[in-house]
Amino acid sequence: MNRALAQHGETSLLDDAKTLRKLDLNYRRNKSQDNTPQIDALAAGFCFEDAADSCWNPEMFSLLYGTPLWDEASEAQRVRLNQLYWVAYYSQIISAEIATIFFNQTSAAGLYAIEDFRLVCDTLDLESAQERAHVNAFKMIGEKFEEAVFGERIFTYPMRGPYSQTMIHTDSNRVKDFWRWIELNAFTLLSSGNAFIACQYFTVRGVRTLNGKLIQHQLSRFYSKCEEKDSAPVPSHISYCHFLDESFHFNSSTIISHDVLRSLRKPTRFERWVANRALHGSQRDHYHFSTAINGLFWYDPALYAKVYKILRSPVFAMDKSEAREMMWKCFAEESDGLHESARSRQIAIDSYREYLSDIDYVDGANKEMSIMRRNTVERHIKTNRRALKKFFLLLDAS
Ligand SMILES: [Fe+2]
Ligand SMILES: [Fe+2]
Repeated sequence: MNRALAQHGETSLLDDAKTLRKLDLNYRRNKSQDNTPQIDALAAGFCFEDAADSCWNPEMFSLLYGTPLWDEASEAQRVRLNQLYWVAYYSQIISAEIATIFFNQTSAAGLYAIEDFRLVCDTLDLESAQERAHVNAFKMIGEKFEEAVFGERIFTYPMRGPYSQTMIHTDSNRVKDFWRWIELNAFTLLSSGNAFIACQYFTVRGVRTLNGKLIQHQLSRFYSKCEEKDSAPVPSHISYCHFLDESFHFNSSTIISHDVLRSLRKPTRFERWVANRALHGSQRDHYHFSTAINGLFWYDPALYAKVYKILRSPVFAMDKSEAREMMWKCFAEESDGLHESARSRQIAIDSYREYLSDIDYVDGANKEMSIMRRNTVERHIKTNRRALKKFFLLLDAS
């Protein structure tokens, strides 16, 4: 590029050879190792019967692992709980990745206005195409599983847009949803026309991906440790391929939010405020932890109807009072599963704090993760108890 004719700013990405090298390497490596064709082929060839009798994740990544339900389950029921974890977990990932595709594109629109940002935009284009393959694979497998085991949807859902709740089982209501819709719309407009906000989106994406990376690394090890790779269940192979792609996505989030940011002019007060609001939103989304599913920040009460349905299905064949009693033991009392989930969330908090520690514009509440830290094991149980009593009353009335 002719520097004399280029846009004039105080700083330019072209002056930062180290960051350019990092970006270029991450892009080229991701492109040459792209797992899209393999993920597409695995999803297209998936037959539930072939994988029906095996676990798809390490044992601790099973639905309601470490609770009385897990302790009392037969081997065959444990396999189903393990597969249900896969389906539930990746349903959440679908929702997150639909939003990621959308914001990759609005941010690329904002960043492409800067003369030397083509490489950043090409990286985002590649990542969006990969996410579409990921979403397709998770959706196909989840739906085939639920169709075969339950004959109806449990955790899966029809295709949805980026304005839906990102955290699919959350503590929300219509007023909160409306306010969130306004915030998202404002952020979309700002990110597509403002390079700082576009860049800052990658701080949010980095934080959100960080927990995914911690969990998905463990999920991917089921396949990488498997000695007979050819006979490994397809979903575990997909977890492995997905983790490989996502490692590059996490790297690009980090490079854009930490290194590329230095090439932009300093944010205004308003821009800093918007950026911190978006991070507060991530903290609110990650406020809860779930006894049912370790590693996701789902709101347990939003899962009661689903868990009840699973307990009453032929998989567990419980009658009404057995199902209620089991739900009380699992959600309203302390268990190893609850403490494991709380521990995973604490690891996430510590990682987020480290990730944000060297970014100047991040405010104290985000650096300290003070919104997330308000939730505790005691508060979690109290909330679950109160909501479960209400759920039982609703069951009585139905
Ligand atoms: Fe993905
Ligand atoms: Fe990704």
